[in-house]
This record gives sequence, structure tokens and C-alpha cells, in this order.
Amino acid sequence: MSRLIIVSNRVAPISEGGPAAGGLAVGVYDALKETGGMWFGWSGDVLASGQPQIKVEERGPVTFATIGLVRRDYDQYYRGFSNATLWPAFHYRADLVQYDRHEFGGYCRVNEWLAQQLVPLLREDDVIWVHDYHLIPFAQALRARGVKNRIGFFLHIPFPASQVLLAVPPHRALVEAMCSYDLLGFQTRPDLRAFCDYVVNEADGAVEPATGNAPQVVNAFGRTLHAGAYPIGVYPDEIAELAKAGARGKPLRTLKATLHARKLIIGVERLDYSKGLVERFRAFERLLEHIPSMHDKVSLLQIAPPTRADMHAYQDIRLQLEAESGRINGRFAELDWTPIRYIHRQYERSVLAALFRAANVGYVTPLRDGMNLVAKEYVSAQDPDDPGVLVLSRFAGAAQELQGALIVNPIDIDGMAEALARALDMPLAERQSRYQDMIAQLRENNVSVWRDNFMRDLAGSGRGAMPPDVPQADTDALPAAQ
Ligand code: G6P
Repeated sequence: MSRLIIVSNRVAPISEGGPAAGGLAVGVYDALKETGGMWFGWSGDVLASGQPQIKVEERGPVTFATIGLVRRDYDQYYRGFSNATLWPAFHYRADLVQYDRHEFGGYCRVNEWLAQQLVPLLREDDVIWVHDYHLIPFAQALRARGVKNRIGFFLHIPFPASQVLLAVPPHRALVEAMCSYDLLGFQTRPDLRAFCDYVVNEADGAVEPATGNAPQVVNAFGRTLHAGAYPIGVYPDEIAELAKAGARGKPLRTLKATLHARKLIIGVERLDYSKGLVERFRAFERLLEHIPSMHDKVSLLQIAPPTRADMHAYQDIRLQLEAESGRINGRFAELDWTPIRYIHRQYERSVLAALFRAANVGYVTPLRDGMNLVAKEYVSAQDPDDPGVLVLSRFAGAAQELQGALIVNPIDIDGMAEALARALDMPLAERQSRYQDMIAQLRENNVSVWRDNFMRDLAGSGRGAMPPDVPQADTDALPAAQ
């Protein structure tokens, strides 16, 4: 039986019972724990001196092979090109894009080095699935070392429109490197379209017209590969169970006791400038401004754990958010009511699931987001008899599927305030019908379906080994055109 080898920069924390809400680590961990296999990536350690060594640990069916980074590699590959160039560019923040060709050199060097570390661990019939923007040149580096296995790539973040991608100086080298994979997966059809558009208009390549749900055939840079949209999912029933169990726990009892029957709006995301947190706070402020009867009747709980805290752009957004929450609370708070509860800390997944279930509104309004699994987790955690309402940015990948949400434009502050008011007042029958619509979609396209669809298409593409033995997904279960 072939093994599945997952490669990603960030690997789920091994000792802490899996990752918290949202993001790559959650989706990949859920997908891998079912099939078993190996997960290779950065341990999260930055070494001041010495040579990093691979550490191999078994946890249930998953073997974790992790390695540290030396300081220079961390600076150039992770903080530099990945997070100061690619991350802002791919999230359409051309204003924040920085570029240093030495950092790009470091990015390529670390990809080569990581590939070199992985090669001795590989077997001939392994299937390799590489994840996210840190590792775009990884297949190229493996191929250069003679690896013939099938290699797929999944981009968890948006793929930008050509005019934005062109702002990244080595855009051509990046897209050429992407074409070394056998199958490219994007979160949504618009991301796939943006990639195909670049191939055709900027790289003199060709893309065969789509036929049904099959991945598209791409010819570029002398290679033929496949590319498709595979929206990542969650396990909705597992999250619902976690949420129910957590409802009896202490954190929930504490929250309820301090809410005093007020309504609750919840947001949970890493403190990232792509998440639209400042706009979100301002829309909540606008709600309080326009509807005084809401005073003392509703609280916004925003959990925003620290992320990339050693980068200026992240220090700036933190200061901005702290200033905004302070200002808005100063303006509206009463002796016994704090309108915004802002928490800059990570919570366990089970606590978050219970908080989602307790909240009347899930407030998920990124300026851009590949998918946003928090939106899917919020819906999954709801009580079917009394579900909350999801207010969701049209610029989250999840908005392509979750049409039962109230879809907003995150820079339209008044529009978001109106959506919040509507969500808080929505009659039970409408809440239930929206929830039913969304939960059916989440069950149909859960994280196993995502993995199996990708694996099936990887098996049908390119060269080399047979795919691992994963159940073959029903073609009809493929996500509909988005
Ligand atoms: C997003 C990215 C992931 C990344 C995660 C956390 O979800 O798509 O690749 O791992 O953010 O960011 P960090 O920089 O802490 O890995």
C-alpha cells in the first residue's frame, strides 16, 4: 500500500492534542489522521547555532518528521519571502509587499534543503502532497534530485489576479515551479481561474477548456499538468459533538454567567491584517451607534491569537486593534457591560467549538481568505434547533459554498452593521433554514471528500507511483462550479 507523505511548513503541534481552530494545520491533520502516513515540515524551532536534525515521532497512525530552521533561513524563507512578500501579495495587499532578492534566494535554498532532507525518507511508491505558499518550489527541488513519485500541491491561500501577482518580482519563476507538480489544487474556482489566466496571458501557456468537474489540463513551461478547485472542508459532526460536550465545561459556564443573557457575536482568527479585524470592530461600533436599543444587549467576543509577532505589519495591526477596542469600549461601555471582549490568546479547539455554539452570530469578515475554516466550524457547532447566524465576507473562499450566510463586503462598514442587526433579529425559522442549507453542504464536502477528490485526481495525473489506498470519492460529490 502506498503511503501518503504530507509536506507543509507548519506541522500540527505534536504534543498538544492537535491544532486549534481554522487554518492549514487543522484541515491537514483531520485529513491525515484517517489515512495515516507521514507529515514532514518545520518543527517551529529556530536554532541559534548548530545543524538542524530531523526528529521522527509516531502519534497514532501519523509519523511526524520535523526539523528546525537556522536563524538565517527562518529570516529569509519564513519571515522574509513567504510572509513579507508572498502572503501580502496573495492576499491582495500590494501596499504591504516587500521584496529582497536575498530573501527569495533564501526561500529557494530552504526549499532545496528541505527536499534534500526528505529524499532519504521516501519510498518508491509514496505519494507526496505539498501544502501552501512556503513550498512552491519543493517539487522542482525533488525532481532535481531524481524523485519520480507523484507530487501534488495545494494552495491554502488565495491565488491572486495576474496584475497583483506581477508585483512579485520572481512571479515567472514561481509559476514555472508550480508547473513541476502533477496536480495543483486551489481553494476556489476564482483562484483556479486566476492561475489559468496567468498561464495563458503571461506565460504563453495553454489551458484546455474545463470538462465537468475534472481538473483542467495545463500546458506550460514544457510540462503538462492538471489543476483544479478543491475547497477544503471540516468534519461537521465531530465539531458538533465537541461543541455539545464543551457546553458543560467551565469556560462556557463562566462566559454565560458574565454575559447575563446578552446576545453574543463571536469572531476567532489569528491576529492577521488579512482578517479585517479593525473593519469588523468599526461595524460593531456602527451597530451600537445606529441602534441604541442594542446597548447592553449584545457583546462581541473576538479571540485573536498572536501570529508572526516578530514582523512589523503584525505589530502594527495589533496596536491598531488594541486602540480600536479601547476606543469603542470607552465610548459605549457601562459599569457592567463591556461591548467588545478582545482576547489575544489561543484557546483549545473544544472550548472554541463550545463558544461557537453559544454565540448567536459568527462574525467572519476577512478582507481576503483562501477558505476560512472558522466559518465552517461555526456552522458545524450550531444547535440545529436554535442555530446562530453566520455573517461572512464575500472575500472568504467559504462564501462560494456557504450561501446560507449573510454575505457582506468587509469594507462596507454600514453594510456589515446592517447584517449584524439582521442576524441578531433573525426569526428562528429563517435561521434554521439557512443552517440546514449550510450544514448539508458541509457534510457533503467534508475534509475526507476534499482529500479523496484530490488524491483521485492526483492518481489520474502525471507520472509515477499509485496513490495511497484512500476510499474513492463519488464524482458527484465534487464541489459544484463556484
Ligand atoms: C495560514 C496559512 C498556513 C499557516 C497558518 C498559520 O493558515 O495558510 O500555511 O500555517 O496561516 O501561520 P504561521 O505563519 O503561524 O504558520
